Amino acid sequence: MTKLSVRPTSPADIDALLKLQAHVYPTIAPWRRDQLAHQLDLFPEGQLVATLDQRIVGCASALVIAWDEWADEHTWSQITAAGTFDTHNPAGFTLYGAEVFVDPRLRGKRVGHALYEGRRRICRQLNLRRIIACGRLPGYSVVAHQMSIELYAKKTLWGDFVDPVLSFQLREGFRYCGIMENYLPEDSDSLGHAALIAWINPDYDPTQKPALQLAAALQQEATA
Ligand SMILES: CC(C)(COP(=O)(O)OP(=O)(O)OC[C@H]1O[C@@H](n2cnc3c(N)ncnc32)[C@H](O)[C@@H]1OP(=O)(O)O)[C@@H](O)C(=O)NCCC(=O)NCCS
Repeated sequence: MTKLSVRPTSPADIDALLKLQAHVYPTIAPWRRDQLAHQLDLFPEGQLVATLDQRIVGCASALVIAWDEWADEHTWSQITAAGTFDTHNPAGFTLYGAEVFVDPRLRGKRVGHALYEGRRRICRQLNLRRIIACGRLPGYSVVAHQMSIELYAKKTLWGDFVDPVLSFQLREGFRYCGIMENYLPEDSDSLGHAALIAWINPDYDPTQKPALQLAAALQQEATA
């Protein structure tokens, strides 16, 4: 694993990403080419790939949102505008993680960690207040006949269960903030539910505007 690196996604990566995504989620429809291209147009800084010997082995995609507009409840489709990221809002203070996945053959080798490090770096560089995401709970379907999704998540927090996604996110320093029901209805392993998680940027400087807001203000001045 000496040549693992995380870098911004480029349009030339789209074919490989779509192929990997179809492999990771055989039962969930992958992104369309035009959706990925649009994400890159809107917010290139937020899209990362992990490569191993130049082969794409994972990705992490994010957008910026005004969290208060979404905090009560939302689905994946609503908050990402059906995967187009048209909801990306440079005036927001929150980096929202829309997707992260790693090649199944390389799980447990810290590729996910490297991608999350990359995401935290983006959050710091843009001076955003936090990262929020809604993580799948793929271990739930196996025990769903025995308990509610809330109890399942709590048992994962307490260490009774290891969930393939939530346990990773907790290990990465995210706080569990509750259940988002019917977040991704087609995710049968999680019975559609997700765990709302947050990471607070320790370097956030409230005396400075987030970088995207500054850039937008500068652009406005230049065109005024
Ligand atoms: C979740 C996912 C991205 C994790 O990626 P990964 O490369 O396997 O994770 P890493 O090897 O970087 O793990 C980082 C840390 O989390 C821990 N971890 C990872 N998977 C874990 C699991 N299933 N259970 C417990 N801990 C886990 C690791 O032990 C590691 O801890 P360390 O800091 O002590 O080394 C990957 O499993 C994946 O692609 N899953 C399918 C796609 C998916 O559901 N994505 C989530 C969308 S919400």
